[in-house]
Amino acid sequence: MSSNKKRIAVLISGEGQTLQAIINACNAGKLNADIVTVISNKADVYGLQRAKNANIPTHTFLRKSYADNQQMDMAIADILEQYQVDLIVLAGYMKILTATFTQRFEGKILNIHPSLLPKYPGLHTYQRALENHDSEHGFSIHFVNEEMDGGQVVFQCKVPILATDDEDSLCNRVKQYEQRYYPQVIGWFVEGRLSYHSEAYFDDKPLTSPIVEYQE
Ligand code: GRF
Repeated sequence: MSSNKKRIAVLISGEGQTLQAIINACNAGKLNADIVTVISNKADVYGLQRAKNANIPTHTFLRKSYADNQQMDMAIADILEQYQVDLIVLAGYMKILTATFTQRFEGKILNIHPSLLPKYPGLHTYQRALENHDSEHGFSIHFVNEEMDGGQVVFQCKVPILATDDEDSLCNRVKQYEQRYYPQVIGWFVEGRLSYHSEAYFDDKPLTSPIVEYQE
């Protein structure tokens, strides 16, 4: 293991397709980083198996084992500090992190959310976009603060909604782009091009609006 590589922790709650894309990017040498641990708040999810297949140590933290969210987050934070992580990547982590946690790792947590924030924070974003007859949907990558799907958005990918789309087809198309671009944006952080000091910076300049990619 080369020591100059950035150390990433990935937090998951489920299937782990996004995690897999990040593992693949590391293995292909496209991401100069080591995933040093994968943490889940759900037992027996397939994402944990993906981590094990890639020989990445895993840890599971169940809410029922802790008195409150704060205690659980502090236990996770302590493990992350033991691993000396440079970046915490949320990849389908379906639990809101407490302010104590987000403040402890300010500027070091990225999340991907399947909507064009600030539109549609929370769940069922595909359904909501279709019901509202939106012409486009997509995803956002943002630094994480204590607000659900809050924090400064650094990257967005806009995907047209087709007349033939249903929730599944739209979800599958957006996910395909998520898996392409999340490793790329993580790569910017790892290379020092993207950072956060009270606000996001890209190539040493304040990022005044998200970087946007448009798909056909
Ligand atoms: C991704 O689509 C992401 O947008 C959302 O959760 C999904 C994760 O799915 N935050 P998976 O567990 O990576 O398959």
